[in-house]
Amino acid sequence: MTTVLETDRERLRVALGERAYDIVVGPRLIETAGGEILPVMCRRHAVVVTDEHVAQHWLKPLQASLAAADIAQHTVVLPPGEETKDLDHFGRLAGEILACGIERGSMLVALGGGVVGDLTGFAAATLLRGIDFVQIPTTLLAQVDSSVGGKTGINAAAGKNLIGAFYQPRLVLADTDVLTTLPRRELLAGYAETVKYGLIRDAEFFAWCERQGNALCALQPDPLRYAIVTSCRMKAAVVAADEREEGDRALLNFGHTFGHALESETGFSSRLLHGEAVALGMMLAFDFAARLGIAAAAEGERARRHFAETGLPTRLADVGLSGAAAERLLAHMGKDKKVRDGKITLILPRRIGDAFVMKDAPADELRAFLATAA
Ligand code: GLY
Repeated sequence: MTTVLETDRERLRVALGERAYDIVVGPRLIETAGGEILPVMCRRHAVVVTDEHVAQHWLKPLQASLAAADIAQHTVVLPPGEETKDLDHFGRLAGEILACGIERGSMLVALGGGVVGDLTGFAAATLLRGIDFVQIPTTLLAQVDSSVGGKTGINAAAGKNLIGAFYQPRLVLADTDVLTTLPRRELLAGYAETVKYGLIRDAEFFAWCERQGNALCALQPDPLRYAIVTSCRMKAAVVAADEREEGDRALLNFGHTFGHALESETGFSSRLLHGEAVALGMMLAFDFAARLGIAAAAEGERARRHFAETGLPTRLADVGLSGAAAERLLAHMGKDKKVRDGKITLILPRRIGDAFVMKDAPADELRAFLATAA
């Protein structure tokens, strides 16, 4: 039996009334997941959903832990990659989960990154009109963002995440050990979403990232846990105040409207990872805010310097894109979920640590800006 030091774990609560849940951050959580999940289960039956890459490293320890807690289990292993997040794969996943004999009290367990989490969450939201699920995020990006807050969904031909539901998990287990098997590029992509919290609402945290970012990316346990906990704490507070993104939750989309357009332009392929697209999107937001006279150029330069030091792309040219794609980028932005009455909503910075929602971004300025963005 593994001895667990509670001191190297932290537990946060997402305060959502009867849908409230814990986020636990720390090492060895997969090894002890059975004991963590059991108290939030209605029936000792779990269906673990994972992908082929994650399964190689982390499925066996999770299965052993569920078995040790006397939880009956099935497993569904998906192909890895964003392509899996479509209706076709969702249909197959739903069929496989139903074939496991689930009942309303069964629990889905998402063991993986954002794709597995979003698909499994959407399956939980829809199968039998809603069953419980647990998130065990295995990328930094999923640990600091996508596994928390209940956004679930799949991609449609018309755009990313256009089919989905707000549906909260019963528990999130962010096991920091899993990050040791994560490729560095994926780690950095997740780091961009971590820095995002500093950029939108906490200048102190951004300054901490400037000092400790390298230690975090070298997987030093204390900075890593601090950054995940701080990110999750901010996300939990924002989600508790605005679960369905009717107000300030939109700030969490900083860099995402530009970023999604860049991902569309690169075909949602490994050429540009989501977190990399968000890093670039945040840089574009700083540059656009400077053009509109909303933020001083020096603020964006400081953010760009930090991202560049960690090895993240900070210019369109870094990923082989340029302003030549301006019209197409604008068209992609027009398909964003945040479009209202045909108007593009952007999250823009006033300075590091202070972002706001601009509901009606001036399209002409945006077009001219994108045409010269480099
Ligand atoms: N990733 C943004 C949100 O969860 O609202």
